[in-house]
Amino acid sequence: MRRAVCPGSFDPIHNGHLEVIARAASLFDEVIVAVSTNYAKKYRFPLEDRIEMAKETLASLRGIVVEPVGEGLLAEYCRQRGVSAIVKGLRSSSDFDYELPMATMNRQLSGVETVFLPAESHYLHLSSTLIKEVFTLGGNVSEFVPRSVLKRLLAGPASG
Ligand code: PNS
Repeated sequence: MRRAVCPGSFDPIHNGHLEVIARAASLFDEVIVAVSTNYAKKYRFPLEDRIEMAKETLASLRGIVVEPVGEGLLAEYCRQRGVSAIVKGLRSSSDFDYELPMATMNRQLSGVETVFLPAESHYLHLSSTLIKEVFTLGGNVSEFVPRSVLKRLLAGPASG
């Protein structure tokens, strides 16, 4: 059984994430969408909401599990879950510059490899940060996020 993990904040999950997760699911038997909490970051949505949105969105895809990463190292999480690869989407060279040290560190810590998937051209501009900014300033983000995320954005500020 080849198990991969797609880790991230997913604050919120968007269509670019979904495309990478779906491609990961076609390469591996199981994909864990591992939702992280970094206490240095300020999130719009609490962890439970980020997990819930990912679950609602991915419910129809087979072989995908959504769960929190927990508070420890991703490398340790991968070791405990028997994960063969971390899968990340790459939109740009700045993504690569951000990801490469983490990929090398994770391999050194646990032997787990990171597989990079080039993002589809029509998702290259998508990021959770930009989507939240556009939404907050009154822009229409309906073509960038799944329905469950749009609903929560429209419902107003999160509780946590
Ligand atoms: O969506 P993000 O915030 O860019 O995701 C970052 C993530 C979750 C991949 C990264 O913060 C992470 O791996 N966190 C777990 C803690 C850890 O292992 N840190 C050392 C990374 S080498």
